[in-house]
Amino acid sequence: MIVVGGPASPLLSKRVSDALGTQALQLETKIFPDGETYVRFPEPVAGENVAVVQSCYPPQNKNLLDLLFILDAARELGAKQTAAVVPYFAYARQDYSYRTGEAVSARTVARLIEATGASNFLTVDVPSNKALQYFRIHAENLTCMRIIADYLGSLHLERPFVLAPDDGAIPLAKTVAESLGTDFAWFEKTRDKITGAVSTSGKDVDLKGRDAVIVDDVISTGRTIANTIQIAKNRGARRVIAACAHLLLIGDAESVLRSAGVEEIIGTDSVETEARPVSIAPVLAEALRRVW
Ligand code: R5P
Repeated sequence: MIVVGGPASPLLSKRVSDALGTQALQLETKIFPDGETYVRFPEPVAGENVAVVQSCYPPQNKNLLDLLFILDAARELGAKQTAAVVPYFAYARQDYSYRTGEAVSARTVARLIEATGASNFLTVDVPSNKALQYFRIHAENLTCMRIIADYLGSLHLERPFVLAPDDGAIPLAKTVAESLGTDFAWFEKTRDKITGAVSTSGKDVDLKGRDAVIVDDVISTGRTIANTIQIAKNRGARRVIAACAHLLLIGDAESVLRSAGVEEIIGTDSVETEARPVSIAPVLAEALRRVW
């Protein structure tokens, strides 16, 4: 197997190939003056299984198109099989036509990846499992929550309590709580489909003297987590820590979270815009070993 790092995931792809003890291939890439991407495989891949690691965080349109170029080129160069390893599945949240006339963007992305001839699609803590239904090839959602729990375990938390900011995050909170050997609860969230405004109602949990850990798949504008932090603080939490698989931190998200009272914001190398404390490479390597 050859692990190819896309331009969005150079560090993560190197960590995956190290974990597998397999060949890593860095592509030759450049951006033309008009903004178009150039990609070249510097070595042959004919007859090999090729895993292309490219997380599609913002700028997601560029990262997604680069992924398609690489997958398509690998097949044209004679790769035996290709796997699209896409920790952050851009457009997964647009998984259904919620309002008449809306594009189901997750379906379009699935079709485009399949059109390159890829035989496997691996993603991590996808914001919506529904998005995976549009693939006809092997498509799998992995979780990095145990690895996040290991990191949380190293923080010496005081009687940690895990919170899911909405019902979609319940499986994540459950996994983290089980790994930490503690309990969890979830809040109810509603989001206005037009403005995107988030409102959250909290359960009656007693967090006095405890450290609250909020876990989610994605932190984007930070509004979902900020609401949960405020409720946790009102319930008496000593410290509040936020952790997620895909730390996008769009716009003023970080200052919104800090103002709400978060102590630490934990993300992974799914998003390589800054160094993150947790690597998802072992999760991806283990899945690739199983697939091939
Ligand atoms: C969707 O519900 C996801 O699980 C996240 O909760 C959401 O994407 C977070 O978005 P934001 O940070 O913009 O509130």
